[in-house]
Amino acid sequence: MVFKSIASTGLLALSATQFAAGVLADAPTCPKDTPLSCSTSSEQASCCFNTPGGSFLQTQFWDYDPATGPSNSWTIHGLWPDNCDGTYEQFCDSSREYSNITAILKDQGRTELLSFMNKYWKDNSGDDESFWEHEWNKHGTCINTIEPDCYTDYTAQEEVGDYLQKTVDLFKTLDTYKALAAAGITPSTTKTYTLSEIHDALAAIHDDFAPYVACDGDNLNEAWYFYYVRGNLITGEYEPSEKLTQSNCPDSGIKYVPKSNGQESTCPNRR
Ligand SMILES: *[C@@H]1O[C@H](CO)[C@@H](O)[C@H](O)[C@H]1NC(C)=O
Repeated sequence: MVFKSIASTGLLALSATQFAAGVLADAPTCPKDTPLSCSTSSEQASCCFNTPGGSFLQTQFWDYDPATGPSNSWTIHGLWPDNCDGTYEQFCDSSREYSNITAILKDQGRTELLSFMNKYWKDNSGDDESFWEHEWNKHGTCINTIEPDCYTDYTAQEEVGDYLQKTVDLFKTLDTYKALAAAGITPSTTKTYTLSEIHDALAAIHDDFAPYVACDGDNLNEAWYFYYVRGNLITGEYEPSEKLTQSNCPDSGIKYVPKSNGQESTCPNRR
């Protein structure tokens, strides 16, 4: 309703994407001097301060077998609120666990988001809906700044749509495939790469902070980009930060398997 009335005045031309991205979200706008998450232990949990989960990870897969998503893109794993020491809470509110994410997004008119998710937020066993449910139920419910009480004009499951949209928005700014390619790191059945080459290539898109990268054996298959957030999860500012976990990849001889190539992946780090 808010969107419609503003649009019809002709004062502002906002696209559906901008709307879904939270331009008019009713998650709170927080004071500029709100402390950055994890920067202090004296700040209480509030709708403007993420705690205990104050380290946010936008996590991605390179799923090559079975291959999921476009062959020239990584895919979304999730957005996780880890504690400032790298541990994490999970499944924090059973009353807000859902098994109807697709229906929720359709009901909220977030069709553009849904089609992006269908292309880039892929489950490696083919059940994207269940994967989205898992990610929301396990991680999304643990983010204190998007609890329903934080909304001024809350509508049913609004925070679920906001959370999924924020995850997608961050993912769009973190094009792992392109960043690696820019450093000459491309999928290959023969070439191998060093961990420091990969770290450097990806640090270049994350304020010089290398993400955590994971391997399945010698094969590169995950990247986790760490952030702290100033303010609310939806309306706040994201500051890239140092990874809190060290890579399990070998220092050299890392393979980046093309998505068309058939090799077993067990994805040990899936969560
Ligand atoms: C999704 O499931 C919840 C919980 O069962 C329910 O309250 C809600 O109405 C459902 N939403 C839609 C759009 O079906």
